Amino acid sequence: MIHLKKFILGILVLLVAGILAACGTGEANSSEKVDKKVLKMATSADFPPFESYDSEGKFIGFDVELAQAIADELGYELQIEDMDFDGLIGSLQAKRVDMVLAGMSATEERRQNVDFSASYHSSGEMFISKQEDKFQDLASLEGKIVGVQLGTIQEEGADLLAEEYGFEVKKVDSASILIQELSSNRIDVAYMDKTVATGYINSQGLVGFDDPTTSSPGMAIAFPKGSELVDEVDAILKKFEEDGTLQELKDKWLSDYE
Ligand code: ARG
Repeated sequence: MIHLKKFILGILVLLVAGILAACGTGEANSSEKVDKKVLKMATSADFPPFESYDSEGKFIGFDVELAQAIADELGYELQIEDMDFDGLIGSLQAKRVDMVLAGMSATEERRQNVDFSASYHSSGEMFISKQEDKFQDLASLEGKIVGVQLGTIQEEGADLLAEEYGFEVKKVDSASILIQELSSNRIDVAYMDKTVATGYINSQGLVGFDDPTTSSPGMAIAFPKGSELVDEVDAILKKFEEDGTLQELKDKWLSDYE
């Protein structure tokens, strides 16, 4: 009799445990669907092949796909916010976003205010102009107007070179405006990352010369200072390097820009 009671009790315990377990997993699944954690990225989508819009208004580019792959790896939903390049560091400092991918060079100066991942691409700088103008070196820029994007390392670089080489610096909000300024002759030369400049040279028949003065640090992902994501993302970048994901992205987006 006692044995039977124990047996029935045992079955009941198992049943209840089973039901609880089923409820438990049910809940976990549904909450995962409802509030999958969001990873907020900011960028300045004026910078092909790193970030721009396709004809349907969707974000595309190397940085966009890298960010998506990282979000997938972390199990987060990626949200992208577009803003002027000049506002990106501030949005990290205010912790309005979790990370920035914007072809951003990991300079020492920026490191005072944000943390960077390992670098994922190196680009030099270039001065580009319209075919007929044929600027070939810094000396030929005397008396000319050189355009840069606000907040970039090129803005700082141009300010430093302007006096020595006697050119004027015009600062604009976006890299695409820079190209418009060039084609409408409001500036003589645009100064920008070589990878991006190469794209414009190829697609718009521009010409250019390499900046002989600087060697900028590589591009990296920026985070608010002290963010836990830095180590996690570095580990993912390392994995992407080892398993070929990074190379695939480079082949897809950057191979025409070298
Ligand atoms: N590499 C340069 C910098 O860090 C320019 C980056 C501009 N990026 C952009 N998405 N417009 O200053």
